[in-house]
Amino acid sequence: MAKITLSVIKADIGSIGGHLKPSQKLIDTVSNYIETKGKDLIIDFHICHTGDDIAILTTHKRGVLDTKIHKLCWDAFIAGTEVAKSQGLYGAGQDLLKDTFSGNVRGMGPAVAELEIEERPAEPFLMFVADKTEPGAYNLPLYLTFTDPMYCPGLILAPSLKKGFKFKIMDVEHTKADKVIELNSPEEMYDIAALLRDNGRFIVQGIWSRNSGKKAVAASTTRLHNIAGKYVGKDDPVLLVRCQHDFPATGEIISPYTIGHYVAGFMRGSHNGPLMPVKMNSTISFFDGPPSVGCLAFCVKDGKLTEPVDVFDHPYWDWVRERVSAKADEIRRQGFSGAAMLPMSELEYTGIMETLEKLEKKFKIIKKVD
Ligand code: 13P
Ligand code: 13P
Ligand code: MG
Ligand code: MG
Repeated sequence: MAKITLSVIKADIGSIGGHLKPSQKLIDTVSNYIETKGKDLIIDFHICHTGDDIAILTTHKRGVLDTKIHKLCWDAFIAGTEVAKSQGLYGAGQDLLKDTFSGNVRGMGPAVAELEIEERPAEPFLMFVADKTEPGAYNLPLYLTFTDPMYCPGLILAPSLKKGFKFKIMDVEHTKADKVIELNSPEEMYDIAALLRDNGRFIVQGIWSRNSGKKAVAASTTRLHNIAGKYVGKDDPVLLVRCQHDFPATGEIISPYTIGHYVAGFMRGSHNGPLMPVKMNSTISFFDGPPSVGCLAFCVKDGKLTEPVDVFDHPYWDWVRERVSAKADEIRRQGFSGAAMLPMSELEYTGIMETLEKLEKKFKIIKKVD
């Protein structure tokens, strides 16, 4: 059977009222571009956004990291950027960090997650699009779904899940080349946890079923900070997860999002805030946040997508959002202090470093405290 590729490529190319949401004209421009210029390349597509990040999901038969598919999306973002400029949107072209396209969008600013699959008779999958946070925001939910029966009862109920999963984890601090490690759950769960606790450095790139060898998860690993060498906005990652049969059920994949765990991002990408599961196409608000994640569920047949289901659009998640709002309020009360703001290693290229350098010269070594 011919393989199908699911590609999600997303970028922030400009938004209304600061970093809140792209304009309708911008979204329409990107959508029209993909529809007209992509008609001989792609089978189907869907455009959506979380906050100011616009995601292009395409299905096609060209495999991952395909130059033509990536160029199509890059050029759609360029077309959208022109609209952003013409409307005076904030941060026009924000995530397009390179002037010329080179092969594929990895390392150029946009986030990308792709899965090349042999379609099962029924092929359900989820697409997550996050804003005001970093790729490591998915570490904890993926860990809990793929290793912990407290969140994923399928690990004890379904024989196909019991064999566990292989995690591929990337050390994104190593910028010269891709540096990855493969670890198997359940045997190496503690090693996986030891890495995934550090959301800024170790990021899940992919997960495979050990029962079938099939790939369940593809996540974006882009850290803009590492590409640009300075703060240019948060990475706002995307994620694809196949569900059911050899993979966890949809409800098991979304169950960890009930936690609203604290992640890096929020105002100026420099704070910790709880990750709020939001309806797709939500805006950003409180303190340029909270960090937000939307999720659409699809089925795909011969590359044709069904209409999406907005997974976090349900009364249950209204209650979660109330709780997450309370968590956001709680950490915001302490302003810049301690755990509320990110450590220096994450702030190193911003104004605070200049302040510290200036103050360093004023420090004196004294013999005796007076
Ligand atoms: P159904 O019995 O409705 O198919 O549900 C099975 C399942 O996987 C629920 O998590
Ligand atoms: P984005 O990364 O979503 O553009 O947000 C940047 C920012 O500084 C928000 O305060
Ligand atoms: Mg922005
Ligand atoms: Mg954003």
